[in-house]
This record gives sequence, C-alpha cells and structure tokens, in this order.
Amino acid sequence: MEILRSLDAMREWRASLAPDQCVGFAPTMGNLHAGHTELIKTAKHRSDAVVASIFVNPMQFDGNEDLGAYPRTLEADLEKLEAAGATAVFTPATTDIYPDGLSQHTTVNVPGLTDVLCGASRPDHFRGVTTVVSKLFGIVRPNIAVFGAKDLQQVLVIKKMVRDLSIHTEIDVIPTVRETDGLAMSSRNGYLGHDERALAPLFSRTLEEAANRIAQSGSDIGTVIAQSKAVLADAGFIVDYLEARHTCDLSYASSLNQETAIFGAVFLGTTRLIDNRIV
Ligand code: PAJ
Repeated sequence: MEILRSLDAMREWRASLAPDQCVGFAPTMGNLHAGHTELIKTAKHRSDAVVASIFVNPMQFDGNEDLGAYPRTLEADLEKLEAAGATAVFTPATTDIYPDGLSQHTTVNVPGLTDVLCGASRPDHFRGVTTVVSKLFGIVRPNIAVFGAKDLQQVLVIKKMVRDLSIHTEIDVIPTVRETDGLAMSSRNGYLGHDERALAPLFSRTLEEAANRIAQSGSDIGTVIAQSKAVLADAGFIVDYLEARHTCDLSYASSLNQETAIFGAVFLGTTRLIDNRIV
C-alpha cells in the first residue's frame, strides 16, 4: 500500500495508473472502524485500485465540537487499510488542502438538502463536507466513491453535488455497520463514558422500532415520532432531532408514498450521535 502524504505524491500516483484502470475511493477522517473498512472492501470489489483518504477536515467542525480532540490514530488506521486491501492512502496536511486558510477558501454549497436535520443543527457543517469532498474528487479523480448510509443526509448531499457539478464519479453506498448491540459504529462512540455506552444502543433500537411500527401497522407517523422522542428523553438522551423524512428530497413524510427514513440525532452528555432507519 502506497502512503501518499502530499498533493504532488497523490497526483503523481494517479497519473501513473493506466487510463482504463477503475479507481475506487473512500474518503474518511481516520480513527477507522469496521464501517470504514467495509467501504474499502466494497470499493475493492468494484475497482482495480482503491484509494482511502484520511483528513480531519477543519471546515466541517462547528464551534461546539472540538477539532483538536478528534481521535487521530494514523498507525492503526494504516494497518486496517492495508488489511482491507487499499492500494493507496492519501493523508494530506491541512496546508495542502487549505493553503490560504479556511476563511479565504472557495466553498461548495448544496442548497435545500442542507437546511434540515444535521444542517439545521450545524449550519456550516455540510459546506465543509462538500467543499472537501469536491476537492478530494478533483485530486484523486475516482471513477467510484463509496460512502456509508450511517450518514444518509451526507450521501444525499454528495449525490446532489455530483449531479449539479457534473462530476464524473459514481457514488456507491454501503449499509450502516453496527456493533453487536445495534449501536452504529462511529469514531465518536469512543467519547462515551461507561454508563453512556451502556445506554447508547437504546437510540438505534428506538429508531428501528419506530420504523417497524410505521411500516407494519401504518401507525400515525407523528404519534410514533412523539412517543419515540419521549422514550429517549425519559432514558436521559437530549434529542436534537427525530424526524420521518422522504429519502429522495428530505421533505417531511406524512405518508409512505415514497421511501421514508427515520433520522435521529441525540446527545449523551456532550457526545452527539446520529443514526437512521429506512421504514
Ligand atoms: P467519517 O466520519 O470518517 O466517515 C467516513 C465514511 O465512513 C463516510 O462515508 C461514513 O458514512 C462512513 N461510515 C462511518 N461510520 C459508518 C458505519 N457505522 N457504517 C457504514 N459506514 C460508515 O463522513 C466523514 O468522515 C466526512 O464527512 C468525510 C466524507 C470524510 C468528509 O470529510
């Protein structure tokens, strides 16, 4: 596995590939777990060479989340990527990606889809995500890029960006990889204290039960959502949002005439967890 630590090294490696080679790409912020390695395995099935990137993107962090505290575990990450079959890993420095600093950088904004859910709670977050992903796509020039359904809103935003900017990269999506107790794997799970970790699976269970109730009995969506929020609040979660929305455009779902998902974000102490379940 090649370790490409600069833009020049990445570009040189990319240029060395034959034009007919299919390049798969999995962008990450590191601190890798089985969800991330599943992206690599999926990319590997579909391409000749697989690039992963590890870059903790300062532009997508908001004031309340400590960028400095985000876990950085490069050596362990490299081992996991190698074992999963990555061909190359791109680990740029912040100055490679934002040479003139953040405030002077051109940004990419996807309207509409970013106004709701995580976009409403974290107003500049998705602008940071789409800016860095469009830059990474420009540098890596992947034929296919793989993302996780755990961040379903992120997937929808990136798909729209790719469409709107006529980027020649196919977006592939893998299902959420979960711990055995149902908790969606996340780099942020490591922030949870012992008692919080014990409570955390109730979040995924509640979303799953809500999705099942709505799907099976046709229960009133508003009632199920209100009851689910109450279950979580009673157990000690601070509910940021819990909403049923259509996955095509993130409009509110009052009926099941289009694919619908329950989207949730909660705080356990200071740790913010997100998850979703398709109805
Ligand atoms: P990060 O949180 O590191 O996630 C990288 C990729 O792994 C994303 O596509 C995410 O959806 C996927 N992923 C994370 N946990 C997963 C799980 N439990 N199951 C399946 N896939 C999972 O998402 C980001 O980084 C950043 O926003 C990024 C796209 C890299 C831009 O900076």
